[in-house]
Order: sequence, then C-alpha cells, then structure tokens
Amino acid sequence: MFQKTRLQLTFAYVGVLTVILTGFTVAVRLIFTRSLNQQLTVRLENLATAATFNMDLEDGELDIDDDEILVGQEQAIQWFDLQGKLVAQQGEYQLNIPLEIEPSLQNHSHPYPIRSVTKPVKELEVGEAIGYVRVSESLTELHNTLSRLDYGLSSGVAIGILLSTIGGIWLTGKAMQPIESSFERLRQFTADASHELRSPLMAIKTNADVALKYPEGIRKTDVEKFKSISSASNQMTRLTENLLLLARTDKISQIEQKPINLSSLLADLIQLYKSQAEEKNLLWQANIAQDLYFLGDEGLLRQVFSNLLQNALHYTNAGDSVTLSASRTSSKLLIKVEDTGIGIAAEHLDRIFERFWRVDKSRSYQTGKSGLGLAIVREIVRQHHGEIAVSSKLGVGSCFTVSFSV
Ligand SMILES: Nc1ncnc2c1ncn2[C@@H]1O[C@H](COP(=O)(O)OP(=O)(O)O)[C@@H](O)[C@H]1O
Ligand SMILES: [Mg+2]
Repeated sequence: MFQKTRLQLTFAYVGVLTVILTGFTVAVRLIFTRSLNQQLTVRLENLATAATFNMDLEDGELDIDDDEILVGQEQAIQWFDLQGKLVAQQGEYQLNIPLEIEPSLQNHSHPYPIRSVTKPVKELEVGEAIGYVRVSESLTELHNTLSRLDYGLSSGVAIGILLSTIGGIWLTGKAMQPIESSFERLRQFTADASHELRSPLMAIKTNADVALKYPEGIRKTDVEKFKSISSASNQMTRLTENLLLLARTDKISQIEQKPINLSSLLADLIQLYKSQAEEKNLLWQANIAQDLYFLGDEGLLRQVFSNLLQNALHYTNAGDSVTLSASRTSSKLLIKVEDTGIGIAAEHLDRIFERFWRVDKSRSYQTGKSGLGLAIVREIVRQHHGEIAVSSKLGVGSCFTVSFSV
C-alpha cells in the first residue's frame, strides 16, 4: 500500500541529490579549468618576459644569447626580427607558422594543441623595438589533466548517485515505518470498532423491529419514531460493514484468487436489481459476453459491481437508462456501467473515489448513503490489479469502466 509513496520519496531524494552533485561537479570543473588555464598563461608570460632579455642589438645586428636553456619540457621560444623573420629558437614544441603580433595570446590546434604568447622586444637603453619573442607550450598536458579530472568527477558522481540510491531506499524505509505503523493502528481501530458496533446495532434494530411488529402495544405517535430508529440502525449497520470491508481490504495484500465466471456474476446482479429498476421506471439493460472467466475473489468482485449498479440506480431519474456491458479484448476484460442519469460535474470527478466524499453532502442521513461505495470499488479493483475510470457530464450521464488485465 505504501510501496508507491516509498518509491516516489526515493526518486525525489535521488533526484535532488543528483541535481546537487551535478551542479557541484560542473562548478568544480569550471573552477579547475579556469585555474589551469590561468597558470599556463602566467607561465608563458613570464617565460616571454625572460626571453626578451636574451635579445639585443649589437652594431645594428640582432644578437641572441641562447646559450642558456630557458625552456621547459613541451615549451619553445622563438626570436624574430622586426620583419618577422625567425632569428633563433629553443625547445621542441616550435610553431611553424608566421609571426602574428596581435593578439598576444593565441591558441593553435595545428599540428597539436599549443598556446603561444608573443611580445615585442625593446632595446634596453633607447627603448626602441628591435624584434619579437614568441613562446609556446603544448596544451596536451592540460587536456590530459582535464580528462583525468572529468573521469574522476564522473565516476565520483556515478558512485555518489549509486550510494545515495541505496541510502535513499534505506532512509525512506525508515521514514515510512512510523507512518505505516500508525496507519496500521488506525486500520485496526476501524476494524475493531466496526466489529464491536455490530452487536449493539443489531440489538437496537431487532428491538425496534419487534416493537413495530406489534404496533398496538405502542402509542400511535411513537410508531414513526420506531421506524426512524430501525432505518437509522440499518444505515449504521451498512456503514460499519463498509468500514470493516475497507479496513480488511487495506490489510490484505494478496487477495484470494479463484476462477470466477464474471458473465454469470454480472447477469445475477442485473437480475437482482431488476425489480428496483422497474419500480423506478428505468430502462435496465445488459450486454454481457459469454464465459468471461477471471481469477479473483468472487465476494469482493460482487461488491464492486453491485456498488456501481446501486449508484446507477440511485443517481438516475425515471425514464433514464442504465446499461451494463462486459466484453473481452485481447488483453483485457472491460466492464462498463453506463447511465443517462444526473451525471457528475467535472470539478468533482477527481474526488468521488475518496472515502466519505459525496457530491450532495446534505442528504446523507435520509438517503442512507455514506460516500464509501466508490472508495471500496477502487480498493477492490486495485487489489485485482485492475483499473477504474469514469467519464461523466452533468445532466447527461456517467460511465464507469472497470478493466482487468488477463
Ligand atoms: N452513477 C452516478 N451518477 C452520478 N453521480 C454519481 C454516480 N456514482 C457516484 N456518483 C457520485 O459520487 C459520490 C460517491 O459515490 P459513492 O462512493 O458510491 O457514495 P454514495 O453513493 O454512498 O454517496 C456520490 O455521492 C455521487 O455524488
Ligand atoms: Mg454509492
């Protein structure tokens, strides 16, 4: 009964955690990428600045002091004259493309990912431009670090989600325990109270009926009072029986399954209410396919269709028609109770299956209706792994469709 709620809770929990973890991972990835990129750029800027000091103008000729090795692994330095002609170079990862002064920072993808920084070199004393220096570094290591990070982060997220799912199942189980046990206590209380109420109610009813059997022994004005007592106790008996039934169906997780001939069960019920329908001047019709066999609890299924037929009897007016039809498709048994009665307004359709819910709340005492009928129907249909659907229009009629998978 609480299985669905548990599942929803677990899904919600895992969903929220997945969003948080993913958000966190994306943030970490962005910050890390930014910081690695900055580090690389700063490294190149510093190297370029250092390399500018190795270029000088001597007697009008460019002199490069490249004895000292400045480059690290995966780096290169190239010195150019003012015309962009390569004068000297160091390191393996040289760029084989012409000098471009702007923008100073460039990323290249050919022949492999490389970043370069270009700076003008100025004569130390005069401050005049004498050439350019271009430093570069391969981006392979940066890309490798980022893909390792991606791998680590995504496996972390996957493991995190897996662990949180396991934790979620355990946590929702724990969270649902008190709810389940208080529901169970409530259910037990309803069952016990309805059971205990049966005998005193029976006593009241029997006494009222006995008194009514010999009306000469009571005052004339009291006869109506005894009749009211008898009818009220009748209503209460029905109510307690319905409550007991609901309390029992709430408890049973697996109903008794026996092969039932639904065709004859439905035909029986049509016959049972025929006289009442005729009395009310209804067109009482049935269209039931032969030999509709189904595995289920006969008593409970009888209750389902008698509740639907009683509603059709009650919520119709003289001249209306009520049609019970039952058929089989390749995968389903379909049973429809259709009437041309008062119908239900669209805004009420969602609520009619709730316990004690009635469209017309005021007359429940006189009519003996408690609003439990459809709640019982839905519960029993659910236990038979079936579905119930309703379509209705105010003033036009209603159609209740029960479907069972076969
Ligand atoms: N065939 C129908 N036509 C119109 N209204 C209906 C029909 N069946 C049920 N209803 C509405 O749904 C409400 C709930 O039905 P139900 O659970 O059987 O309770 P009850 O019949 O005891 O009032 C009813 O009070 C009625 O307003
Ligand atoms: Mg009813």
